[in-house]
Amino acid sequence: MNWKHKDLLDLDILTAEEIKHILKTAAPMKEILARPNKKLPTLRGKSVVMLFYENSTRTRTSFETAAKILGADTSNIAVAQSSVSKGETLLDTAKTLQAMKVDLVVIRHGSSGVAGFLADELSAGVINGGDGQHAHPTQALLDFFTMQERLGELQGKKIVIVGDVLHSRVVRSNVLGLKKLGAEVVLVGPPTLLPSEMNYLGVKTSYDLDKELPGADAVMALRLQLERQQSGLFPSIREYSRLYGLSLERLKQTGKDTIIMHPGPMNRGVEITSDLADSVQSVIEEQVTNGVAVRMALIYLLIGGTGSVVD
Ligand code: CP
Repeated sequence: MNWKHKDLLDLDILTAEEIKHILKTAAPMKEILARPNKKLPTLRGKSVVMLFYENSTRTRTSFETAAKILGADTSNIAVAQSSVSKGETLLDTAKTLQAMKVDLVVIRHGSSGVAGFLADELSAGVINGGDGQHAHPTQALLDFFTMQERLGELQGKKIVIVGDVLHSRVVRSNVLGLKKLGAEVVLVGPPTLLPSEMNYLGVKTSYDLDKELPGADAVMALRLQLERQQSGLFPSIREYSRLYGLSLERLKQTGKDTIIMHPGPMNRGVEITSDLADSVQSVIEEQVTNGVAVRMALIYLLIGGTGSVVD
């Protein structure tokens, strides 16, 4: 497939074939990750900048690791130590990076739509590393890669996503992609955290986790994003845990070897118990490893040209 997109902002503009092509490209990248010597010359001479206005452990580090493995030069903008703190606008910061002839900017920002705004303004590629409550497409892609590794084709698979749906950009990108791949998606959460707009995307919504677990092939827990909530949105974390927390005992209801997922960061004892997070059903660490492989694939597709991936 000839990759035609300069940017990756969300999964709505990708076809099912393009999503599958990214996942297929990530497979040999994962093999490279397992090598003792991982460094490739593929993207020598290219540069990737991480511009993160919100905290991140997984996304930023895995993009940096992915770009380095492919041989690209990387830099990280620590926003608090940059000229942003002197009043420079986002656009001026981005144009400054472009003037340095960077090839790709990975941006995370607290406001929805920022990645799209930059993509319109820059000739460099832009990857959305999470914008407000809008989208987190690379997280969704690594989730699909992980599901596919364990479950095979996602057509017809039942995927239950439970938690703070309202504030989750991960859910929105997951729903867009999973629908394209033919999965059955069920979103579960308390009424205060489960917006009715999700129904417009054609997915089932439910307030009753125990009713939705039977037959689930994958269950993904989301953390409560307390930093994005107004006070009183959900009265008690203890009550949330009782109704929506995942545990080994509760997961017996699925009736099969369901895989357990979490995009991280995880609040053990709130949305998931440690016995489940550390169980053989859990693919949470595998998601992190796959995040590097999928981001290698994306960087390669966006700025790698047509050269061979693997030496
Ligand atoms: N899943 C995710 O985006 O994690 P980070 O916030 O650590 O990047």
